[in-house]
Amino acid sequence: MQPAITLAPSLQENQHTVYLLAPEPDFSPLGLSEAEQQWVSQKLKGDEGVLSLNRYHHWIFLVKAPKKQQAPQQDEAWRQAGHKLAGLLKKEKVQALQLGGGTQEQLLLLEGLLLSLYSFDKYKTKKQDSWRLQDLTLISSELNMEQVRELQQLVSATWHARTLINEPVVYLTATQLSRELEGLGREAGFAVEVFEEGKIQSLKMGGLLAVNAGSTQPPTFNVLEYKPEGSVNSKPLILVGKGVVYDTGGLSLKPTAGSMDLMKSDMSGAATVAGALYALAANKLPVWVVGLIPATDNRPGEEAITPGDVITMCDGTTVEILNTDAEGRLILADALSYAKKYSPELVLDFATLTGAAARAIGPEGTVCMGTASEAIMQELKQAGEQTYERLVEFPLWEEYEKQLESSIADLTNLGGPNAGAITAGLFLKHFTDYPWVHFDIAGPAFLTKADSYRGKGGTGVGVRLLYRFIKHHYKLA
Ligand code: BES
Ligand code: MN
Ligand code: ZN
Repeated sequence: MQPAITLAPSLQENQHTVYLLAPEPDFSPLGLSEAEQQWVSQKLKGDEGVLSLNRYHHWIFLVKAPKKQQAPQQDEAWRQAGHKLAGLLKKEKVQALQLGGGTQEQLLLLEGLLLSLYSFDKYKTKKQDSWRLQDLTLISSELNMEQVRELQQLVSATWHARTLINEPVVYLTATQLSRELEGLGREAGFAVEVFEEGKIQSLKMGGLLAVNAGSTQPPTFNVLEYKPEGSVNSKPLILVGKGVVYDTGGLSLKPTAGSMDLMKSDMSGAATVAGALYALAANKLPVWVVGLIPATDNRPGEEAITPGDVITMCDGTTVEILNTDAEGRLILADALSYAKKYSPELVLDFATLTGAAARAIGPEGTVCMGTASEAIMQELKQAGEQTYERLVEFPLWEEYEKQLESSIADLTNLGGPNAGAITAGLFLKHFTDYPWVHFDIAGPAFLTKADSYRGKGGTGVGVRLLYRFIKHHYKLA
C-alpha cells in the first residue's frame, strides 16, 4: 500500500525530515547549528548521497543527487536517490515523514521512492517485516494535490502491472488474466470485454487458436476501452499487448537449462497495456484508448501445433510454422488485424517478443521499430528519455523480408539466425495498415536481480513511458 500523502507549507519540528539539497543548499529551514552546517557542507562536497542526522527522537535525512550534465540523467539521479532513501526508511522503520526541497526534485524523488515501496509477498506464508511508510507530508507552496494524486495513480498502475507479471501461471491462466483485467477496469474506470474461445473461433483468430492448441486452458481475447466524454481524439489510439501467460516453447520446447524459468513474464506486454489504461482512466485523461490483449499459454500438449504445420490467420494470411516457440507474433498478428476495424490513429504494441532484442541491448532499454511518422518516433523517444524507459529504434528494411518467405505458405513464423528482433517486427508489420510502432520489451520487462526502483521481477516497463507520451502527444500536459 502507498503512504497517505498530504501537503503543508513549512517544516515542522520534531518530525522525521527529508530535505533535498540543491547545488547551493539553503539550510535555514532546518535549524542546523553553524558547526553542523559546516560538517554537512564538508561531507557532501561534490559528493552525492544521503546524510543521516540523528536527533534521538527523529531523523534528518539530507539527500543530494549527483550532478549530471543532461536533464534526463539528472531526473533519473533524483529517482535513484528516492530508491536509496526508501532503503534507509525501511532500515530505520520510519512510518511518517516530511519532505522538503525543490518542487521538481520532490516529485522525482517521490516517484523513485514510491516505485521502490512495491513488494510481491502474496505467496509468503511467514509474516514479512511489517514496516510500512504510512504518512508523507510534502513541504511546498507550489505543489497541488492533483499533481500528487496523478503521480500516485501512475505508481499504482505500475504496481498493478508488476503484480500481473509476478503472478505464476498456476494462478494466472488466460481466464484469470481476463478476470484481473476486469477488476482493474472496475477500479480505474475502463471497460473490459472478454471474448471466450467460441467467439475467438468465430473471428477465425487462427494465430491465437494455434498457439493455444496444446493447452488444457482456453484462450481469451480481451478488449479494454477507455472512451471518456470529451475525448480529444476522434480515432482511437490502440495499445496491443502480448498475453502469453506461460511460454514453454510448445513442441519446439525451450532448450537449455534456465531458458524457461522466467516465462511466466511472457505476458508483460499485456501488463503494460493494462497498466497504461489504468493510469489514463484513474487520472481521467480525455483521450480515447483501446487495449487489445490476446491471451493463452504456449504448451506442448497432444493437440499442439507442430513445426511444419500451416495455419490461417484471421485476415486470411497463411503461415508455415517452423518453430512453435515463435508464438508471440502469431497471437499479436491476429490482434493487429483486429485493430484495423477501428481505423486507429496509431497502434502501439508491447511484447516480450525475442531473445534477440534482449541480447542486443539488455535490460537498459526497449527495442522499437515501426511505420509511424518520424514526428511520432521522436515524441516516443523523448518520452522514453524523460521517464528513463529509453528506446532504441531498429530498422525495418525490406531486405530482411526474404527471411520470412515460405515455400508453401504466405509467410513463415521463423526468421534466420541474425536480426531476430527485426524479422519478428517485420512479421507483425504484415498485419498492419495504419501507423504502428512495435516495442520489444524482452530485455527490461523482468529483472532477475534487483535494480534500484525497478526492483526484482516484473518492472511494469512501458506504463510510465506510455502515460508520458500520451499526455504530450494529445497536449494534455
Ligand atoms: N517469449 C520469448 C522471447 C523471450 C526470450 C522473452 C527471453 C524474454 C526473454 C519468445 O516467445 C521466443 O521464444 N522467441 C524466440 C523466437 C525464435 C524461436 C525465433 C527467441 O527469441 O528465441
Ligand atoms: Mn516463445
Ligand atoms: Zn514468448
